[in-house]
Amino acid sequence: MWLDGFLRTQLKRLLTKQSHVALESKIPLLESRLQDIDEFGLYLHIPFCRQICPYCPYNKEIYHPEVAERYTNAVKKEIDIYSKLIGNKPVTSFYIGGGTPTTMLYSGLDKILRHIFESFNMQCDIHLESHPNDLTLDSLKAISSLGVGHLSIGVEALQDYHLKALHRPYSVKHVVRAVGRAVSNGFKCVNADFIFALPGQTYSEIEQAGHTLVEMGVDQVAAYPLFKFPYTKLGRSARESNHSISSIFKRRKMLGILERIFYAAGFERTSVWAFTRPGVPRYCSVTVPLYVGLGASGGSYLKDVFYLNTFNVREYIKALENGRMPIALSLDLTENMQMAGWLYWRIYETRFKRSDFQERFGKEFDRVYGKYMTLFSLLGFLKKDDGDEIVLSDNGTYWLHVLQDLFSIEYISQLWGTSKQEPWPEKVIL
Ligand SMILES: C[S@@+](CC[C@H](N)C(=O)[O-])C[C@H]1O[C@@H](n2cnc3c(N)ncnc32)[C@H](O)[C@@H]1O
Ligand code: SF4
Repeated sequence: MWLDGFLRTQLKRLLTKQSHVALESKIPLLESRLQDIDEFGLYLHIPFCRQICPYCPYNKEIYHPEVAERYTNAVKKEIDIYSKLIGNKPVTSFYIGGGTPTTMLYSGLDKILRHIFESFNMQCDIHLESHPNDLTLDSLKAISSLGVGHLSIGVEALQDYHLKALHRPYSVKHVVRAVGRAVSNGFKCVNADFIFALPGQTYSEIEQAGHTLVEMGVDQVAAYPLFKFPYTKLGRSARESNHSISSIFKRRKMLGILERIFYAAGFERTSVWAFTRPGVPRYCSVTVPLYVGLGASGGSYLKDVFYLNTFNVREYIKALENGRMPIALSLDLTENMQMAGWLYWRIYETRFKRSDFQERFGKEFDRVYGKYMTLFSLLGFLKKDDGDEIVLSDNGTYWLHVLQDLFSIEYISQLWGTSKQEPWPEKVIL
């Protein structure tokens, strides 16, 4: 733990040139910032689930139809605020996440989407997260009729005893059928979320699950190791930390098994954890350059500022009913922080172009990060470096992500854990 903390502080200093980062309870100036962008992504958070999984770090509460109705009206008010500020700027990506967005399929999601399409210049498909128990033939038809082109399904495990240990309310037989119905429904992309490195999981179970994921005919698999966030039920009872040496090597070996199976089936790596069939538009929520987040806990990133809505659903509704923005925390980003953030997400995507960095920051990439690329090359972390494009090797992808996790799990726990407890925190120091 001591080494974790030390490494984290040193890396933070090296990359951001700051010893600590503090999010504060102030509403940033949005008018000029929103006028300054050419296009942006939209994220909509639906914070409801029918049951709460013990490992889940996301902002959610148990679904109640009457709260969902008030939430619908509040989100519409938030859309009105942004639509006045943004005007006709094109929205080039739209992701609906949660929680479980399909809980609101028949209780407000259609109204919110209609309002979004009436209020913004939508130039993209809709990406939607779903729960396997919400995918009957009728629900799939309803999802398609909303204009959803990309559907993600929380499969999570493909052995009944692991599903049970994760408290998932379905069997392998049930989830395989649900995915089959979704695959036959004609979406542009169906993604299956899968969690590995579960307690007691064997390498042969991973092998078996990998083959089943391919046979189900999905276009993409996002395979995440089980992260133990300290503020979740699982995190509180976990005996081993995320950064223990044995779990780091076990995850690498399991991911290696999945890489082999997915590559043999023709999939390509599209992020640290995602594998996509060639030619399919990839399904990703987090790597859009600039975005506005709607809903409780929605986060927004506008070049030099990051800000976060209150996590508390009632406070979110109350703020909008009273004509106030629901923003709880914001962070002004220095140029070093923006560049470090850019590199963080490009490493997550496993590939990037030096010319994109130059275009975004007006600086030569190698002047800022050239020495790290030399080091990565010596360590065998690069698969390709043709002068402009850099592609990470599978090993580079994994080990750099282990480094990134030193920050992300700690930061997410700090930020989300505090925001969950206090609707309007005064300050969160990372
Ligand atoms: C919002 S959920 C997906 C939709 C729906 N709520 C469900 O559970 O089916 C997003 C995904 O994050 C992943 N996830 C959640 N908690 C995780 C954890 N502690 N470690 C790794 N992956 C996790 C799961 O794969 C999950 O499907
Ligand atoms: S994993 Fe999905 S269903 Fe479970 S609590 Fe999290 S968001 Fe809800």
